[in-house]
Amino acid sequence: MEGTQQTGSAMHTNGTTADPETGSGSRSDELIFFVNGKKIVEKNPDPEMTLLTYLRRQLALTGTKLGCAEGGCGACTVMVSRYQAPARRLLHHAVNACLAPLCSLHLVAVTTVEGIGSVARKLHPVQERISLAHGSQCGFCTPGIVMSMYALLRNNATPKMADVEEAFQGNLCRCTGYRPILDGFRTMTKDGGGCCGGRGRGQGCCMTNGKEADEVSTLFNASDFTPFDPTQEVIFPPELMALSKGQRSQTLCFRGDRTTWIQPGNLDQFLELKWKHPDSKVVVGNTEVGIEVKFKNMVYPVILAPAFIPELNAVTHTDDGIEFGAACTLSHMGAVLRKEVETLPQHQTQVYLAILEQLHWFAGAQIRNVAAIGGNIMTASPISDLNPVFMATGCRLTLMDKEGCRVVRMDDGFFTGYRKTIVRPQEVLVSVHVPHSKRTQFVSAFKLSRRREDDISIVTAAMSVTFSPQTNVVEELMLSYGGMAASTQLATETAKRLRGRSWGEELLQDACSSLAEEMTLDPSAPGGMVTYRRTLALSLFYKFYLTVLQKLRLQGVSVEEAGPECQSAIQEFRPETASSVQLYQAVPEGQSQDDVVGRPMMHLSAMKQATGEAVYCDDMPLYENELYLALITSSKAHATIRSVDVSEAERCPGFVCCVFAEDVPGSNATGAIVHDETVLADGKVTCVGHIIGAVVADTQLHAQRAAKAVRVQYEELQPIVTIQEAIAAQSFYHPIRTIQKGNMEAGFKQADHILEGEMHIGGQEHFYLETNVTLAVPRGEDGEMELFVSTQAPTKTQAVVAEVLDVPVNRVVVRVKRMGGGFGGKESRTTILSSVVAVAANKLKRPVRCMLDRDEDMLITGGRHPFYGTYKVGFLSSGKVVALDVSYYSNVGNSLDLSLSIMERALFHMENSYSVANVRGRGFLCRTNLPSNTAFRGFGGPQGMMIAESWMTDVAQTLGRSTEEVRRLNLYQEGELTPYNQVLDRLTLDRCWDECLSRSGYEQRRAAIDLHNRQNRWTKRGLAVVPTKFGISFTATFLNQAGALVHIYTDGSVLLTHGGTEMGQGLHTKMVQVASRVLGIPCSKIHISETSTNTVPNTSPTAASASSDLNGAAVQNACAVLVKRLEPYRTRNPTGSWEDWVKAAYFDRVNLSANGFFKTPDLGYDFNSNSGRVFNYFTNGVACSEVEIDCLTGAHKNLSTTIVMDVGHSLNPAIDIGQVEGAFMQGLGLFTLEELQYSPEGVLLTRGPGSYKIPAFGDIPTQLTVSLLRDAPNDKAIFASKAVGEPPLFLASSVFFAIKDAISAARAESGLSGPFRLDSPASTERIRIACSDRFTKLCPPAEAGTFRPWSVQV
Ligand SMILES: Cc1cc2nc3c(=O)[nH]c(=O)nc-3n(C[C@H](O)[C@H](O)[C@H](O)COP(=O)(O)OP(=O)(O)OC[C@H]3O[C@@H](n4cnc5c(N)ncnc54)[C@H](O)[C@@H]3O)c2cc1C
Ligand code: FES
Ligand code: FES
Repeated sequence: MEGTQQTGSAMHTNGTTADPETGSGSRSDELIFFVNGKKIVEKNPDPEMTLLTYLRRQLALTGTKLGCAEGGCGACTVMVSRYQAPARRLLHHAVNACLAPLCSLHLVAVTTVEGIGSVARKLHPVQERISLAHGSQCGFCTPGIVMSMYALLRNNATPKMADVEEAFQGNLCRCTGYRPILDGFRTMTKDGGGCCGGRGRGQGCCMTNGKEADEVSTLFNASDFTPFDPTQEVIFPPELMALSKGQRSQTLCFRGDRTTWIQPGNLDQFLELKWKHPDSKVVVGNTEVGIEVKFKNMVYPVILAPAFIPELNAVTHTDDGIEFGAACTLSHMGAVLRKEVETLPQHQTQVYLAILEQLHWFAGAQIRNVAAIGGNIMTASPISDLNPVFMATGCRLTLMDKEGCRVVRMDDGFFTGYRKTIVRPQEVLVSVHVPHSKRTQFVSAFKLSRRREDDISIVTAAMSVTFSPQTNVVEELMLSYGGMAASTQLATETAKRLRGRSWGEELLQDACSSLAEEMTLDPSAPGGMVTYRRTLALSLFYKFYLTVLQKLRLQGVSVEEAGPECQSAIQEFRPETASSVQLYQAVPEGQSQDDVVGRPMMHLSAMKQATGEAVYCDDMPLYENELYLALITSSKAHATIRSVDVSEAERCPGFVCCVFAEDVPGSNATGAIVHDETVLADGKVTCVGHIIGAVVADTQLHAQRAAKAVRVQYEELQPIVTIQEAIAAQSFYHPIRTIQKGNMEAGFKQADHILEGEMHIGGQEHFYLETNVTLAVPRGEDGEMELFVSTQAPTKTQAVVAEVLDVPVNRVVVRVKRMGGGFGGKESRTTILSSVVAVAANKLKRPVRCMLDRDEDMLITGGRHPFYGTYKVGFLSSGKVVALDVSYYSNVGNSLDLSLSIMERALFHMENSYSVANVRGRGFLCRTNLPSNTAFRGFGGPQGMMIAESWMTDVAQTLGRSTEEVRRLNLYQEGELTPYNQVLDRLTLDRCWDECLSRSGYEQRRAAIDLHNRQNRWTKRGLAVVPTKFGISFTATFLNQAGALVHIYTDGSVLLTHGGTEMGQGLHTKMVQVASRVLGIPCSKIHISETSTNTVPNTSPTAASASSDLNGAAVQNACAVLVKRLEPYRTRNPTGSWEDWVKAAYFDRVNLSANGFFKTPDLGYDFNSNSGRVFNYFTNGVACSEVEIDCLTGAHKNLSTTIVMDVGHSLNPAIDIGQVEGAFMQGLGLFTLEELQYSPEGVLLTRGPGSYKIPAFGDIPTQLTVSLLRDAPNDKAIFASKAVGEPPLFLASSVFFAIKDAISAARAESGLSGPFRLDSPASTERIRIACSDRFTKLCPPAEAGTFRPWSVQV
């Protein structure tokens, strides 16, 4: 259905008047576009408004989500379609709504997730497949992923798997581990990505090989999927097509409060305007300018948008190359070049191939679809990926102003400083000429980043060499680097020295020593990683050297031989399309079809999540009198506040009031357990991000602007930032925990060997896709307040807010519908934001809302604790460990929060799965001036076990034995005692271990790896098997309780409520399965609406993996009561229906509502006596991973992972496997990728997906096998199941130790053997530096203490 929506203030006739800016032609102030087929005419739209804000706030289309506002997560993906009149074609593109200026949408059709299907109407096949394939957990990423896939299909109805992977480069998911999403969409591809999909071919099928008779390997049935029929897609609005034919050359002008947006109609007008407004910003894709405005507080009074000027979009083929208009998007450029590469002779396409290589790794599709070539050049970023290629290959730029035109070559004179070029303010870039390569020219481009996909470069380079014909004598050499200076740099000195020389080993050596001298970096250089970057400059040249050597040889030119083992340096290092297997035990024969326990039932909200209908906290409609809150936070790590000046903020539009400590009616002292922090700072700040106050205004934008206008004066105090600083200052929270068993002295005496070591494990940001959000609604009576919060801890929030507001707890209701991910990050830290919002709502007696921006959330809410461990291990020559003394230091931050319990859990996992007779573990909580760190999936367990695996590896390496053998030797046996004296019974570690080794083909893999490593110098493979034993229970005994409330209504429908919250982990789905089995009714009759403190009180946070156990038992309890009450009616009418019994009971005045309760029996540990049961039981698993590292760059590929996990009798294999894979991928991020960077002053430098990299689609192991252990019932939890949320996370350390294994092989080439320290994460930087070789030796690090580093290891 099409309609017209007209908004804006003044009425107008045709919206066209004479143009006051240019004095010529006519201009319009009407923006015309379509959203989901509906026409919208927006009069004078705000140039600062993004499409995302417009969709969510003006049109109430909340399916499109805000995850980052910087183009880095893809949650906001929508499809934008245009009709290109001259070419008569329709273009469909996935774009990031968070960066798309509303004003840029003239004459486009926007399609959002709501526009393609709905649960009420009909799901689109894309929405259906992601749901049925279990590709949606919390669902916050799902609409964006759906829209990326949808846009791909609109352009290509039968894509290949590689196309799907490319389409998802710009989408992140923190829950699923990506595998199920790819599996769902694999069914829409023509090649299925190399997997036979169960049909079997050649050597059989990976899904069925080694499968037991009662094992199942499918989690969904592809034949249930609605076929995809591209002819049924929504048509492009015919009216828009007609409009597009006519209006292109019209000038548009939109005036906002601070910015005027002008879209010139033609080139002359553009030049005229630029002449008149030399300081104006030219905006095409807005992927740079958008970031500057949002995050760097830039205000641009005049924006010129030339995207539709023909000259700037033209692609002209010339005799010697291609001229691209500066506004051509990167996607368009890529398409043109790909075609060219197919048609031109190979030798002419070297430059194009280099550009295509860079484009493949350039951002994600959504960015490439809008970002312009000109934007990349003119931003003049030192880490631009295209500029090095343009520079090394002599591209020419056409610059114009009103008075003329000049053509300049992009050489070392073009960039004049950081983000500066020779282009004059009145000039614009019109086009870029990219040349063909010459017959004797070779070009390569390289990009190194933390994450392979969608990441900014650490170092980026392009190299071009031209030889005298038929020789290996260098005629021309251009080496261009990004990331090595304030702008793209040419290594001119080195090039000069090498000109005229023969391409051979001597040249290589001279090149490297010359580059080491020329490509220097100050040890304090922004971005850090100085030694790594310098080494890369050399290593990349070496790759280029070998590549050229090979190409010369192919051309018949006589050159030196480089041994075959060196070829690995130049092999393409791209991950292959992933394939996967999931195995689980079928439900017992004879289990009723209606009994869904044990079956792979879809997450109950999946479909709503896929259509955008699922309501998250910030999707709730605005209250009429609602206000918005923005936080004022400290920019200093440790300081007293001298003054706070709000005068400028008060003058900001929409300002309502400020909130400070004096506005807190109750206790301003707060905290998860100990009240050692403030709701709002009271004269002192103890971390950057400490909340000082808040501004309340009419809109989010106004609140945020006003908050930024508040001026705070500080008196700085010395901060403590790192663990090492805390140790030096003895800055610890108390108590210092110790667990000790056996006799340490005797243990070490017995040992044949003793080794000592240390390791640092970096922290981790939760990066739930939905940031923290609270809406507080005062009820107007008796101090009542209702809060809608994205929290795992409604009861805690209720209690804290009541205390802050000084009202009894019974006046506060906290309601949680669902969260867009939690992972522990919304367990305790959410209470701080909720408290501030409640204080503001209380002060103003109006609803107040706040959803943190991603950068604020990362800054304020803390994450996983960084840990530093030191150890001393005594072991026998056999490898048996007999004594262990380990100390853990965690970086707690500025308040205790849950850190003591987290440290306790680290200690409870200090021996991981290994039996050590004599053991002592101590835990020190470092008090620092970082934002308080908190719970994160695993809760200290992973850090505790990581140190264990580090010493286990050291033991094996000291003895020169295989780590697998030494680990196996030390593995716990049934009946042994843990260091905290808990007996291990029904242990399944052995079984998991053996199955993992056999499923992974460990022996064959090891042999193949050894062969690979012997034959290849510059890529090395590594393998590791790691077990885990994770204790299940809250270690605070009182938390091991849960409640449920079940109502049966007279129509037979059931409303189920329990104490747990839904954050994507499928808890509600499992609880419905439990209730369905106990009540004996289909799941469709049972509904869970939300979690609320006025239905089930005094709940424990949804945490510790125990929520299914605890709440499941409580639900079972409540349902059993109801079953009992209904029993007489069932007996009386055995052939009747559920509804009949319910009705009969009701008329008989039977209470059809029951609450249930459960507490875990026999728990209670005492640290003093080291006795009493800590855990109800353990969840075990084993993983085997294989990796390949590129020794020259530090990049690695995850080749294969096999996981065997004991989850008892799975309640829902799809959800449990989803948890295993999701946790594994989060662990993969923790141990190999994610790095929080802090300045020495304690300022967090990584505040968004641009700089903080979580795993993406491309990081899944190429082969991923997850198998749930069969026949392993657990008698300690509901329906013989086991907890699964946290335990698998640690299994990702197998990837870390496989990397370490591969590095060991690389080090062996340099004659290095034995244990070495490798801190976590095993980043590209750490891997490269640890692979010590001739290049690293040329770039020694600056001496510590002689400079101030850009970032420090906290
Ligand atoms: C999530 C994300 C990922 C990214 N990944 C990468 C990456 O991998 N590699 C990389 O190199 N960059 C990356 N970028 C940076 C950015 O996308 C590119 O620089 C892009 O090419 C900019 O183009 P744009 O059209 O969006 O620029 P805009 O933001 O529209 O403009 C950028 C600048 O260029 C100027 N400008 C634009 N056109 C002209 C013209 N014709 N004449 C004069 N001045 C002009 C503008 O005034 C402005 O200063 C990324 C950005 C984001 C947000
Ligand atoms: S919200 Fe737009 S990409 Fe993250
Ligand atoms: S399901 Fe993808 S972020 Fe939660």
